[in-house]
Amino acid sequence: MSEPILTVDGLSVSFRSPQGVVQAVRGISFTVGREKVGIVGESGSGKSMTGRAILKLTPPSAEVSARVLRFRDIDLAAADERAMRGIRGDRIGMILQDPKFALNPVQTVGRQIAEAFRIHRSASSAEAKERTLAMLEAVKIRNPRRVFDLYPHEVSGGMGQRIMIAMMLIPEPDLLIADEPTSALDVTVRLSVLRILDELVSDRGLGLIFISHDLNLVATFCDRVLIMYAGRIVESLPAVELHRAQHPYTRGLLDSLPRINERRERLPVLTRDPAWLTA
Ligand SMILES: Nc1ncnc2c1ncn2[C@@H]1O[C@H](COP(=O)(O)OP(=O)(O)OP(=O)(O)O)[C@@H](O)[C@H]1O
Ligand SMILES: [Mg+2]
Repeated sequence: MSEPILTVDGLSVSFRSPQGVVQAVRGISFTVGREKVGIVGESGSGKSMTGRAILKLTPPSAEVSARVLRFRDIDLAAADERAMRGIRGDRIGMILQDPKFALNPVQTVGRQIAEAFRIHRSASSAEAKERTLAMLEAVKIRNPRRVFDLYPHEVSGGMGQRIMIAMMLIPEPDLLIADEPTSALDVTVRLSVLRILDELVSDRGLGLIFISHDLNLVATFCDRVLIMYAGRIVESLPAVELHRAQHPYTRGLLDSLPRINERRERLPVLTRDPAWLTA
């Protein structure tokens, strides 16, 4: 594998609460090169917190620690907020799970994307507008000129997600963290968004972290998959081997997928073993 774009070693995220400490991420380690790395796991397993911790976008109440958190030659663990502002959006993009909250409600969609481009590439506003329209078209927005002038509350959830993707891709980042980027999209739009992401990885050498609930999607789209359970990576394997996974938790996730041509009286219940937390 080529030199990693991102190195994560011993990353932990915890929250202090009146009921005690909640460990959202428990000392996980992985690297990302010019490839598509999927992160799967049930709700609450720490997928989003992992993505946010890399960009230092965890809630203020979170405590984050890591032995190594390095993006190319930058020590993210040591980077202050000012340095992070230069990195976020420009060199590392993040598509958030809920795009509605990530867009500025009082600015039109087009202006937000154009601004993102202008700031990062110091382009003229005419050039930024052209680029923005082209990008909206690339994410399959049918009437980019009309959408350019809409406010975020005027667009559908799926369109909001594509706008977010356009905004993140316009500065041409080296690493993209995509948190459930296609879950709100219908099948055809999902395919075109996946194609865009795939091309960025193969043509431009982007590193992609693809967070998803969808095991089948990750198995076919990604190169490698990390399976998270209760804040830990319990298994890491090439995506094509996902269906042959060994870990009982991964097996449980795979066995709970509904299958066509199979009638079941009831869905299986996922079993959990406390030993997985210490393994
Ligand atoms: N602000 C917070 N305060 C306390 N605990 C939090 C906070 N935010 C998240 N957590 C906890 O951190 C854990 C991991 O959350 P995270 O959002 O990373 O899960 P996830 O794997 O992305 O889940 P989903 O698939 O539902 O998006 C959860 O147990 C959650 O309850
Ligand atoms: Mg999440």
